[in-house]
Amino acid sequence: MSHEAGWAHAPGALRSPSWLREPVDPNDLVPHLWSSTAHKVDGELHVGGMAVADLVAEHNTPAYVLDEDDFRARARAFRDAFSAYDVYYAGKAFLCTAVARWVFEEGLSLDVCSGGELSVALRAGFDPARIGYHGNNKSVTELRRAVAVGVGRIVVDSFQEIERIAMVAQDTGLPVRVMIRVTAGVEAHTHEYIATAHEDQKFGFSITSGDAFEAVRRVEAAPGVELLGLHSHIGSQIFDSSGFEVAARRVLALHARVSDELGVTMPEMDLGGGFGIAYTTQDDPSDPAQLATEMSKIVEHECRALGIPEPRLSIEPGRAIVGPAMCTVYTVGTVKPVRLDGGAVRTYVSVDGGMSDNIRTALYDADYSCTVASRASDAAPVLARVVGKHCEAGDIVVKDEFLPGDVAPGDLLAVPGTGAYCRSMASNYNHALRPPVVAVRDGVARVVVRRETEEDLLATDVGDL
Ligand code: LLP
Repeated sequence: MSHEAGWAHAPGALRSPSWLREPVDPNDLVPHLWSSTAHKVDGELHVGGMAVADLVAEHNTPAYVLDEDDFRARARAFRDAFSAYDVYYAGKAFLCTAVARWVFEEGLSLDVCSGGELSVALRAGFDPARIGYHGNNKSVTELRRAVAVGVGRIVVDSFQEIERIAMVAQDTGLPVRVMIRVTAGVEAHTHEYIATAHEDQKFGFSITSGDAFEAVRRVEAAPGVELLGLHSHIGSQIFDSSGFEVAARRVLALHARVSDELGVTMPEMDLGGGFGIAYTTQDDPSDPAQLATEMSKIVEHECRALGIPEPRLSIEPGRAIVGPAMCTVYTVGTVKPVRLDGGAVRTYVSVDGGMSDNIRTALYDADYSCTVASRASDAAPVLARVVGKHCEAGDIVVKDEFLPGDVAPGDLLAVPGTGAYCRSMASNYNHALRPPVVAVRDGVARVVVRRETEEDLLATDVGDL
């Protein structure tokens, strides 16, 4: 097991990770990893009533394909299951004007965490009163703008920000409604970089240290600033509801203490996002109805025990709405069998994108799956690693997947579950052009974010010509 270069380099045959089973037929989709309209016809992947090969003929690769019906259905499922809550779609997962409109039309609110995301929302005509504004270091300019456009709530994250908000409220004379981001000291079982409620990280006011209570006092003392409630987000890609349970218990205890000691009844509380999705067969997410039942039960029980009225709750799912609604389509460029120590062979399949359109594998050691999208094959499966075209050995898209042994240049490869944090974290590394997002619905394709061009890249390079 313990080889310094990892299990893949240990002597002996190439082993797949324990969760990855060799498929009976590598042409088959694993349906729950894909958007609801995805299926294969004679080996060809179809999404939103369109053959992916036809989409590629028109829009080229790499491309993100967004299944509009699937996105809307997931948004509605959260809205309906959490009908007593306000559901804020977390735009950081993926946002463009079309998606902001869908979110609005489906009756959800929107969480933005930067001036740029706010601009997209406003351009889409999103009602500012239904926007929540996040961020641990908002500038005075950003705060002024948020207040001026009438953002419904600002989630404050530091004592300096409370001072800035108080100043903006005084200067503008406009009402400012805030929530206070608290850290509940919960160890969420997810990657360290996406866990946010333990103490040693940058977000929020610690409940344990007393900072959260002090933040409440200071907001209460600020003229023109209205305190809506406490906000807790414990992390992302979480499957185990016990993290939410512990966080809700601690946040509600603070909520009750504020009411007891300060005589302030905060009307709202936000429990954040973070609901996990299935990237591979090893993930087993809950559906929104299950989540709603579990979370409501926890809050009801705690409020009864504390003898306090239930605040109006909100949540902020991002990944669970957009993640499964998108897939990325690539073209295979090279196939290289690489002989490892001990004689095993790993098949490296290079595609025409990589870490510039999906950094999650390199950054979080995330697992993905994929399928050949352009044809059926009778060849026996081989264990493959899908890599990009960037100048970096860690440029891996799919660490391990069984693909047909005759996978070849020119084949289309589709990776499901890329809706969340792939386009939104895409980069121009190696001066790559960021791919388009093509929305598909009922046999109609619409580019909602166009592919970047070399002119786009060169436009910011003013140079010294
Ligand atoms: N609310 C707050 C305050 C957040 O910070 C986040 C995510 C969400 C809601 C939405 O979480 P979701 O439901 O999408 O898991 N780039 C990482 C994820 C970073 C999450 C940042 N905050 C990734 O690719 O996994």
